[in-house]
Amino acid sequence: MRKNIVVGNWKMNLKRKESLELVEEVISMLKNNNVEVVFAPSYTYLYKVNKMCTDLSYVHTASQNISKNKNGAFTGEVSAEMIHSLGVKYIILGHSERREYFNETNTDLRTKVDLSLSNNLDVIFCCGESLKQRESGVHFDWIKSQIVESLFHLTEEEFSKIVIAYEPIWAIGTGVTASSSQAEEIHAYIRSVISDKYGENVSANCSILYGGSCKPNNARELFSKENIDGGLIGGASLDANSFVEIIKSFQ
Ligand code: PGA
Repeated sequence: MRKNIVVGNWKMNLKRKESLELVEEVISMLKNNNVEVVFAPSYTYLYKVNKMCTDLSYVHTASQNISKNKNGAFTGEVSAEMIHSLGVKYIILGHSERREYFNETNTDLRTKVDLSLSNNLDVIFCCGESLKQRESGVHFDWIKSQIVESLFHLTEEEFSKIVIAYEPIWAIGTGVTASSSQAEEIHAYIRSVISDKYGENVSANCSILYGGSCKPNNARELFSKENIDGGLIGGASLDANSFVEIIKSFQ
């Protein structure tokens, strides 16, 4: 079902004490929230953070990644079934940093999507273009190919477990945000791509989040757009006040 979701992607930031304090602070500031809030800490704190969230129906956790292998001799890797065994709800897949620094391809991501779904984990699937791609006008086709190649083998029922996050690479961590109309244009396009494959109903029920320098001062404008259902927040999710202000931008 389409819902408003705000995800804090902490990336490789925060030590144990800071992580747990941040979660405590955010939770204490949220009362009867009608937005789903998701924390994506590092693997090391995921179990503890998830435990801190279990009493609140609207607060969940996400893993920032999983291995593309099911299990076995893969030193240093973490599998989908391990994450599921912690009670975690979501896996973030296809973040541009994973694609760029760890060479994750659409085919790898397709495998990870399947492993996530077969372990009852919902997927937050990231897509987005570089500045060069936008300037040369190939961004629509690029985003479509990311979605088609990693997700469109799914059945309708499986696809209902997917949340899309549109994250223009040129806006991530740069302080440059896509304007609300630039973001809305892509979100509407993504919805039309989904509709062409799975029909209007599935497309209307898919939550599509925006990510890329989303901050308290621009979240309200972005979230007011018809096809923007929330945010994937990096830098601003590391501070309780700014993260909560973003969450409250729907109200
Ligand atoms: P940012 O990161 O909010 O720091 O730009 C967003 C993301 O990478 O998910």
